[in-house]
Amino acid sequence: MSTPHSLVTGANRGLGLESVRQLLARGDAVVAACRQPGKAGALNALAGDHPGRLHVLPLDVADARSRQAFVAELPLVLGDDGRIDLLLNNAGVLHSGERWGQLEPAVLEDSLRTNATGPFLLTQALAPLLADGGKVAFVSTIMSSLGSRREFRSPSYAASKAALNMLALQAGFALAPRGIAVLALHPGWVQTDMGGAGADVSPHDAVAGLLQQIARARAGEPMQLRDWRGAVLPW
Ligand SMILES: NC(=O)c1ccc[n+]([C@@H]2O[C@H](COP(=O)([O-])OP(=O)(O)OC[C@H]3O[C@@H](n4cnc5c(N)ncnc54)[C@H](OP(=O)(O)O)[C@@H]3O)[C@@H](O)[C@H]2O)c1
Repeated sequence: MSTPHSLVTGANRGLGLESVRQLLARGDAVVAACRQPGKAGALNALAGDHPGRLHVLPLDVADARSRQAFVAELPLVLGDDGRIDLLLNNAGVLHSGERWGQLEPAVLEDSLRTNATGPFLLTQALAPLLADGGKVAFVSTIMSSLGSRREFRSPSYAASKAALNMLALQAGFALAPRGIAVLALHPGWVQTDMGGAGADVSPHDAVAGLLQQIARARAGEPMQLRDWRGAVLPW
């Protein structure tokens, strides 16, 4: 059997970097996409430790031209018959400190581009390079859940991830005929730059849980918002 290929966005730190580590450890060939590969010290060190098995490519998921250049470059890395077996749409942004009465259009728009439309359009553009029977995971959040929000908090982030959930659902319908399973996953509250040091889940445990949920998913199953332990969350 040929080596499975995984692609991770936002791979230079946090959950993305830990995903790259665990995917390499299980034997995948990995494409790690990040905005500034030249500054991605940890990723570049990993690439040195795994010659030929980790490729670091530039990608700003919110930028159409960057997505286009990335999609054009990918076949050079995958080789002629190479396909992506797992696309992990991990990159995301949380603009903190939003106050009612002072919400800014630029923050709402950047959140939607980075967290919702960017990952969806990237997935659409990558569809020809996805392996039939492969997996696409979108990293969402419990904060996207309309059924469980009870307070005014980070509305741009919450709304953009709620939009992501619907786009993930739509991508799932579109890709199901090819046997591609699509997931929307909440990683838990995780100790990263975004989650903060006080968060209750380590990046290692969160990613191990996410990869388990991805491994279990089957195309054509009704999509649900699940957390890293497999619990179903309200949409
Ligand atoms: N941590 C949590 O508690 C938690 C909870 C629920 C969901 N999540 C989700 O989990 C995912 C990973 O979060 P994290 O905790 O690892 O956050 P993080 O430590 O803040 O890392 C975010 C990553 O996304 C990248 N990114 C941001 N905007 C991007 C863009 N336009 N194009 C490409 N990459 C971009 C960042 O790259 P730069 O280094 O270039 O900025 C960074 O690699 C996100 O989707 C987040 O919403 C996290």
